[in-house]
Amino acid sequence: MSSNKVNIFDTTLRDGEQVPGCKLNTKEKIELALALEDLGVDIIEAGFPISSPGDFESVEKISKVIKNASVCGLSRAVLNDIEVAAAALKYAKHPRIHTGIGTSDYHIKGKFNSNREDILLRAVQCVKWAKNFVDDVEFYAEDAGRTDNEYLARVIEAVIKAGATVVNIPDTTGYCLPNQYGEKIAYLMNNVSNIDKAIISCHCHNDLGLATANSIEGVINGARQIECTINGLGERAGNTSLEEVVMVLKQHKDLGFYTNVNTKELNPMSRRVSDVMRMPVQPNKAIVGANAFSHSSGIHQDGFLKSAITYEIIDPVEVGADTSKIVLTARSGRSALAFRFKNLGYDFNRNDVDVLYEKFLQVADSKKEVGDADLHQLAKQHETIEA
Ligand code: KIV
Ligand code: ZN
Repeated sequence: MSSNKVNIFDTTLRDGEQVPGCKLNTKEKIELALALEDLGVDIIEAGFPISSPGDFESVEKISKVIKNASVCGLSRAVLNDIEVAAAALKYAKHPRIHTGIGTSDYHIKGKFNSNREDILLRAVQCVKWAKNFVDDVEFYAEDAGRTDNEYLARVIEAVIKAGATVVNIPDTTGYCLPNQYGEKIAYLMNNVSNIDKAIISCHCHNDLGLATANSIEGVINGARQIECTINGLGERAGNTSLEEVVMVLKQHKDLGFYTNVNTKELNPMSRRVSDVMRMPVQPNKAIVGANAFSHSSGIHQDGFLKSAITYEIIDPVEVGADTSKIVLTARSGRSALAFRFKNLGYDFNRNDVDVLYEKFLQVADSKKEVGDADLHQLAKQHETIEA
């Protein structure tokens, strides 16, 4: 696959919803699916239909309302799972069945008490079965991150021969280093004879905080689909965060890739998912955290106020965030203080600011952040003395 378009496969409604406390009802899932389609994702993994009647209903109803994106249902490599997924996707305009099995020796022995040859046969069998219901079949090699590359290549070649259109290489446990994950994708590109007949997908977990880096390495080495979630939600430490990979690809034009995501909707979408799942976003989260565009130290504030590019690589408008903030703390400098006074309508000269700065530091040392009310108070005292 030589295109430079990277497909965004959103699994907020499946892997993301697996987070304890984040369960959604059907109505909430439909609303989010419609918002994800508006955001511009290419594939929506709507759920795991065999897992519960509620999830079946959600996938079925989402299939009815989504027009442009593909709607995907997860299944194990179990024939009945696949039939149920197909039934839930019956009304989808672009249905995709996502089926697969663990391929690492940890899974083959520890989970299935089986052997590599049997697992390969089951992998092929599940893809062939899914092909009876839909054209678009994605195969996942669970724990591919810890699967021997030579064996993984054999499995991938066999499932593509059986009709898989997308081959998902999950780093299920978030174990790989970026170079290892990238080399794995490169290995498949170079050693799977029919790899040009399928799209390689990256599905990375964040157990070591490497999910975004690994997904990008995957794309650099030949993958053209990233599986991700809004706010990086997902099992344990989460999945690759959608907003991060989309913005890495957008900001690093030198890489030459693009997605269809409307980046101006990233912050509104993040807030929406956070609200409906009742899962706060950490303030220092890249792109969508409350502090992602806040400047609080004097050195940074001074540079930022002279030229935003000195300390910001993204214009907040580009990602639908509020405007950049100058936060006042005991680490802030005079230019930040002058800026904030000016924003409040005060016209202080340099000498005034020098005097006010000493008073400001006394207040700042006694609290975490100096707000507008404190500034008005300082200004009032200053004007009274000066009068
Ligand atoms: O992490 C994983 O391996 C998965 C698969 C089911 C795709 O979520
Ligand atoms: Zn996963």
